[in-house]
Amino acid sequence: MALFGRKPTLAEAIELLRAELRAGTLPREVSDELRRGEPLVSGGREPPGLQEMLEAVPGGAALLEVGGRMVARNQAMARLVGNARTVLEATRSQELDDLCARALAGWPQRSELPLPSLELQVEAHLSPLTHARALLVLRDLTAERRADRVRRDFIANASHELRTPVTAKLDEQARSFVQMIARHAERLKRLTDDLLDLSRLETGAWKPALGAVQLAALATAALDLMKPRAAEKEITLGADVPENLRANADRRALEQILVNLLDNAIKFTPQNGRVTLLGDGLGPTVMLSVVDTGPGIEPQHQSRIFERFYRADAGRSREQGGTGLGLAIVKHLAQGMGGEVGVESNKGGSRFWVKLPAG
Ligand SMILES: Nc1ncnc2c1ncn2[C@@H]1O[C@H](COP(=O)(O)OP(=O)(O)OP(=O)(O)O)[C@@H](O)[C@H]1O
Ligand SMILES: [Mg+2]
Repeated sequence: MALFGRKPTLAEAIELLRAELRAGTLPREVSDELRRGEPLVSGGREPPGLQEMLEAVPGGAALLEVGGRMVARNQAMARLVGNARTVLEATRSQELDDLCARALAGWPQRSELPLPSLELQVEAHLSPLTHARALLVLRDLTAERRADRVRRDFIANASHELRTPVTAKLDEQARSFVQMIARHAERLKRLTDDLLDLSRLETGAWKPALGAVQLAALATAALDLMKPRAAEKEITLGADVPENLRANADRRALEQILVNLLDNAIKFTPQNGRVTLLGDGLGPTVMLSVVDTGPGIEPQHQSRIFERFYRADAGRSREQGGTGLGLAIVKHLAQGMGGEVGVESNKGGSRFWVKLPAG
């Protein structure tokens, strides 16, 4: 065996041993031993190489050694930060370099941070490894955060514009135009808010914070919010929710559900009608219902009104300023809390109900 002289690499040594095994020139005890040591001679069971593992990591990945030296990196990491030798040279981020130092000292790290010199926003995961090494994984959040910012700015600007009293110095005709534009803008803002809510619900980004919610107090709060709108139409608001009734629910989500249902009831019920909020305990579940004396919903629409953008009477609903998202949001919120929603309706009015686990 030519294992002396220049020190062979591991791969060469394995190859030599394989050749000798095939030729049968090794002493019996050695060849038996090697055949038992499967991974060395089988050739098919060697663990994947470092580079292969790094390429398989989702996101930019690099193996770090002391001083934040990137001794290996995958292609995604090279695309993100280039090929500089150390983390500090590549990113010019003292913050990231400090995180790396802590991970190299044995402490796992996870943080979201900006890399201004690369115009990136990233989430960094650092896992300490043996021999004072660490694995750095960077997830690029730049696009996601930019979209969040655009949405926030849009909403902030839209609300600012709406609050600005531009009508002060205008003549009557201009004033009525501006008011009309403001009404449309208000509608657009509501539409964007609703769409944002719905997309958060549909992507699963929203997680309910469940807890025992006193329903009588919540009902009063929701009805208080609706009082001015009901008064405008001389609609009588009423509530009958037992004091001790509690749901296991997310308080804000349940309030949003009630406000949406009450908003519809008031919107679609004609002048001088009545809207009532009822609560009932049904063993392990509780039920809240919003009952109105409105026009009712025809049977063929009843199963579809919980779909987004669906309106039973598009003409009338548009007149009322609706886009057909309210009930879709109600349904997602209720289902997200382990509940269900439904409607019963005839010409004398509608009853929308929400069932939730008791709290
Ligand atoms: N209490 C009700 N009485 C009669 N029809 C109703 C009632 N509640 C809902 N509807 C019908 O169901 C449709 C869908 O309601 P939904 O709340 O989803 O939309 P919207 O109120 O029109 O718009 P948005 O809630 O987005 O402002 C309404 O357009 C209306 O046709
Ligand atoms: Mg609605």
